[in-house]
Amino acid sequence: MEERRIVILTGAGISKESGLETFRDPDGIWAQVRIEDVATPEAFARNPERVHAFYNHRRAGLQADAVLPNAAHDALARLERDWPGEMLLVTQNIDDLHERAGSKALIHMHGELLKARCLACGAVSPWHEPMTLASLCPACGTAGTLRVNVVWFGEMPMEMERIYDALGVCDLFVSIGTSGNVYPASGFVAEARNNGRAHTVELNLEPSEGHSLFDEAHYGPATEVVPAFVERILKDGW
Ligand code: APR
Repeated sequence: MEERRIVILTGAGISKESGLETFRDPDGIWAQVRIEDVATPEAFARNPERVHAFYNHRRAGLQADAVLPNAAHDALARLERDWPGEMLLVTQNIDDLHERAGSKALIHMHGELLKARCLACGAVSPWHEPMTLASLCPACGTAGTLRVNVVWFGEMPMEMERIYDALGVCDLFVSIGTSGNVYPASGFVAEARNNGRAHTVELNLEPSEGHSLFDEAHYGPATEVVPAFVERILKDGW
């Protein structure tokens, strides 16, 4: 039998227990700064230093020694290793915790905090230090043309065609640690259901906006519900 295909979507909730903030929890990022001031192309055009400072703070935080992949990241890397069929992990997160846990078939649909994109030559380069208007593009050497390689509100998420292709043929769709507030990711469960055979599962701390669209749900901290779910899938399927 052709092995069944799995698509997993993750959001900020999977990284919360690694010490990274979510966006819409009461203590989340959007309770501290306004999207319009730091996460839109207009904000960057208006005040690039403010936007650089916002991502410099998060980039430094992500590289703190204490920030490590947690048991949920590890469980998804194990599932990819041990599942005999295809698996694609799509993350809304811009952290590198899935990579550090060992996930390989991974799409960062909202980009990556530890990458810089040059507006002069288009090159995308690894970037770990603070970014300023004086920063030089590693590829073309131009100063002042770098932006963080993340997708801002109003911009097109990355690799959408590849994601929709995978949703169109998947047998299992699992949404983990996302509030289901932001499109197009919040529409992935409906895409999967439309393929006529996908079993859809939500693993989250609490029911998301789209909770009623899922066939199955388990609520609790990701470091508890994700490893338990992966264990069951590998042993008994779904
Ligand atoms: N375990 C599992 N889920 C958790 C945990 C945890 N320990 N802690 C919080 N959550 C859940 C919250 O209940 C919430 O449903 O994670 C979800 C986080 O939701 P958001 O903060 O809205 O983050 P996310 O869904 O990833 O946001 C999507 O919005 O601002 C944009 O680009 C940003 O990628 C982000 C997108």
